[in-house]
Amino acid sequence: MDKYYLTTAIDYVNGAPHIGHAYEKILTDIIARHYSQRTDNMFFLTGTDEHGIKIQKTAAAQGKTPKELCDENAQKFKDAWKVLGVDYNRFIRTTDEDHERIVQKIFKKLVDKGDIYKHEYEGWYCQGCECFLNPKDLTEDGLCPDHLKKPEVVKEENYFFKLSSYKDAIIKHIKDNPEFIVPSFRANEVINQLEDIQDISVSRNKANVGWGIDVLDDPEQSIYVWIDALSNYITAIGYDTENPSEQFKKLWPVDVHVIGKDILKFHSIYWIAILMALELPLPKHIFAHGWITIDETKMSKSLGNVVSPTSVLENFELQYPDAFRYYMATSAPCGRDGNYSDQDFKEKVNAHLANSMGNLLNRSLSMLVKYFDGEVKAEFLTGRSKEAESLLRTALGTVKIVENHFTHFEIQEAAQEIISLVDATNKFVTDNAPWTLAKEEKMTECGQVLATVLEVMCVVASLIYPYCPNIAADMAKQLSYDLSTKLDDITIENIKAGKLISKEDIFPVFLRVDSELADKSKAKA
Ligand code: ME8
Ligand code: MG
Repeated sequence: MDKYYLTTAIDYVNGAPHIGHAYEKILTDIIARHYSQRTDNMFFLTGTDEHGIKIQKTAAAQGKTPKELCDENAQKFKDAWKVLGVDYNRFIRTTDEDHERIVQKIFKKLVDKGDIYKHEYEGWYCQGCECFLNPKDLTEDGLCPDHLKKPEVVKEENYFFKLSSYKDAIIKHIKDNPEFIVPSFRANEVINQLEDIQDISVSRNKANVGWGIDVLDDPEQSIYVWIDALSNYITAIGYDTENPSEQFKKLWPVDVHVIGKDILKFHSIYWIAILMALELPLPKHIFAHGWITIDETKMSKSLGNVVSPTSVLENFELQYPDAFRYYMATSAPCGRDGNYSDQDFKEKVNAHLANSMGNLLNRSLSMLVKYFDGEVKAEFLTGRSKEAESLLRTALGTVKIVENHFTHFEIQEAAQEIISLVDATNKFVTDNAPWTLAKEEKMTECGQVLATVLEVMCVVASLIYPYCPNIAADMAKQLSYDLSTKLDDITIENIKAGKLISKEDIFPVFLRVDSELADKSKAKA
């Protein structure tokens, strides 16, 4: 694999990040870290979407300039991603100078080509969607189906993009490429939306929406959010209408846009048409994840149940984000909705990360110290039992299965395979009872069992790394294992003969989450 380029949606900065934003960024970070184990050229882009009427109004309500509001909130997103270990290569803001300049050139190129034209228009505009709605998509009461608000009648002379002329080409592309939209069950939705697609407004009158990028040569008009926002995926890596950068040539087309299911239409229809108009290659995949609810309820400001992602770490006094990352990433199968609850969080991470995985490593290393003073003898590494050989083959097989799940963006499913390997290894320990072997003075057999387990734990460290980078590093440290090993280079010959560890260097990689902490901190609040 020569490169992997992936992006998240860019978040609106009219508020602070919530757990739904965090879900997407964590998922994408996990995919990014997985691919960093498969190529040296991985590039992970995220950022913030900063123009538009919503931001303008929120800023005005708070007595701030739009730019002040954006600066303040963009920083909150960056801070949250730092705490959560979301390790992007670029954080683009749509107010960045390079982005604004190239968006103007993109717009101009499309005007010059005749894909964008000026047109007088009257329609139903929803501020929540930031787009004109088709009257047939409104609810019976004439409300926007997503925001349940009455759209306003807007009459303006705007620029329009000839979306309709790309309709057939997009339908063909979706049908010819069954892996283009992930999960594939969403492809039909998109094809239905395409059936009655119309040209879309791509600018607003500056008198109505002042906070946006100016149309070149037409200062009355500002470029309306979707062309601005979607273009971030190419401007961030140096696209230019005349002279694209070397980086752009290397990274484009993008391997995957990770987005929420609510904005699939914009990505699989609008963005694809824009790319076709720009004569650029199309994304390989668009992965639409599901939505996160809180205690099975939709998050909303009015319900007061919006959860800040970093508050979970604070409530449980977690030093590392690993448990939260693991929980979020495994909260739903590919493309389905997930849920967060404190109770479920505690139970799951205690069971998987503390009891199954952490404990297994801790017990095995402690036995190695107790019976062999932490030394792996050469005879522990040869003449293993059939069961041991079979477990090691399962470990190597799991690497392939996990890779295959990532190819299909099955992040929860991949994690389940890793935990299955841990479970199989725990069973191997129980079945072979190294403590009994020691009692019976079958020391070579005892050492073989322990060395086999430690060998598997090296593989587990690599596989769990994308989800739990700090835990993986702590595991690797105690195993003297090189965590930068690429997945293709993983072997079952990591444990070498010699002293592996001393008693004082053994420490638990994950402590059980205290069941009372979150409740206490809620009481405090
Ligand atoms: O849509 N669960 O920004 P946004 C899971 N600026 N994901 C959620 C979620 C939830 N409860 N709530 C939001 C925008 N998201 C545009 C994107 S891209 C060129 C422009 C996801 O702040 C949502 O699906 O409303 C989207 O992918 C992302 O968070 C940003 O949402
Ligand atoms: Mg949204």
